[in-house]
Amino acid sequence: MLPPLTAEEAQHSERVAALLRGELTARGGWLSFERFMELALYAPGLGYYSAGSVKLGAGGDFVTGPEVSTLFGRCVARQCRQVLGAVGGGILELGAGTGRMAAAVLTELAAHDALPERYAILEVSADLAERQRAELAALPPRLRERLVWLERLPQVPVRGVILANEVADALPCRRFRCSGAQVQELGVALAGGATAAAFRDCSAPADAALARACESLRGSLPGPLPEGYVSEVCLRVTPWIAALSECLEQGVVLLSDYGLPRRHYYHPQRSGGTLRCHFRQRAHDDPYINVGVQDITAWVDFTRVAEAAAAAGLEVSGFATQAAFLVASGLEGFVAEAAEGAAHARLAGEARRLIMSEEMGEAFKFMALTRGYDAALAGFALQDLRHQL
Ligand SMILES: C[S@@+](CC[C@H](N)C(=O)[O-])C[C@H]1O[C@@H](n2cnc3c(N)ncnc32)[C@H](O)[C@@H]1O
Repeated sequence: MLPPLTAEEAQHSERVAALLRGELTARGGWLSFERFMELALYAPGLGYYSAGSVKLGAGGDFVTGPEVSTLFGRCVARQCRQVLGAVGGGILELGAGTGRMAAAVLTELAAHDALPERYAILEVSADLAERQRAELAALPPRLRERLVWLERLPQVPVRGVILANEVADALPCRRFRCSGAQVQELGVALAGGATAAAFRDCSAPADAALARACESLRGSLPGPLPEGYVSEVCLRVTPWIAALSECLEQGVVLLSDYGLPRRHYYHPQRSGGTLRCHFRQRAHDDPYINVGVQDITAWVDFTRVAEAAAAAGLEVSGFATQAAFLVASGLEGFVAEAAEGAAHARLAGEARRLIMSEEMGEAFKFMALTRGYDAALAGFALQDLRHQL
């Protein structure tokens, strides 16, 4: 059972639903799921990420690693320190959420006198960018002065580290259903006429791009997918990685997200896909309710990310579970350093949440994509899962 919407949320959701209905009607009654998700999450001033709901953190809809603990950002900082020490330059964080990871990374780097030339944030949500500014205003001036917010990716390639935690899962994806040798695209239609709020799945023949992507992914799986199998594919990953590659002169793109190598992602038993919605700390699988006030997300096919990286001239230099990455990056030492007592117990609890397999430790992965950086990355010293990609 999901908690009911407040009157304000219900009103806002109705405005987003009206926008979606208008788009559906203008396009002849059918929308790709990718477009539905894009509008539900990012329609200017209205979408879930663009408008003012709390979203992240304990009082919001879901909790990310940086929201669980500063330990997450401190471990990421360790990896940044190694790379920045070798190639210099700065950090660019994509989709910085509330700004907590930026604060933890900068604080940890400052403690080692290893601040980046600058810490740039590229955030598509105006609402979150405002929250980041408020959160990061509390940092000491010498950290604050490294911060800059960008409107788009840098035009001139940069050196250093590009960070993106739980951004790939928020890229709009397409949905498909296997039907004999064919693939049908699962899109969205109206359930009850142009004024009803209800949306429903509606299939159509896959267009050339989706058909090609599904053919290629089916060809790379060890066995056939069962009749009626439903899943999703994020075609936006490839241009996104290409754009990141274009703006990286030398250094590392460090991605972290929940996801799997392709053959586990598209396992015959995962027959309903990985699409999930988050509303007030409850996860469910109905994207057609609470539109505009709940998160919609899908797991990341890390094989697709690796393929996109190879096509863009980046090397996949590390792939490991979050647990392995954080432990290799000094998580246990950070906990041990904390003075005994309540602070220590709190940190130990947060560390468990980040690394226990039944919590975030196994489902979340770290992947490093490099250019012009040959040294072994410290965060991947304990585990190398690249053979699974
Ligand atoms: C699930 S939240 C994760 C926030 C934060 N990284 C964290 O871990 O707490 C997804 C974030 O990615 C941002 N985002 C989505 N698409 C983006 C894109 N193409 N470029 C940059 N940020 C994006 C959203 O606005 C949001 O801040």
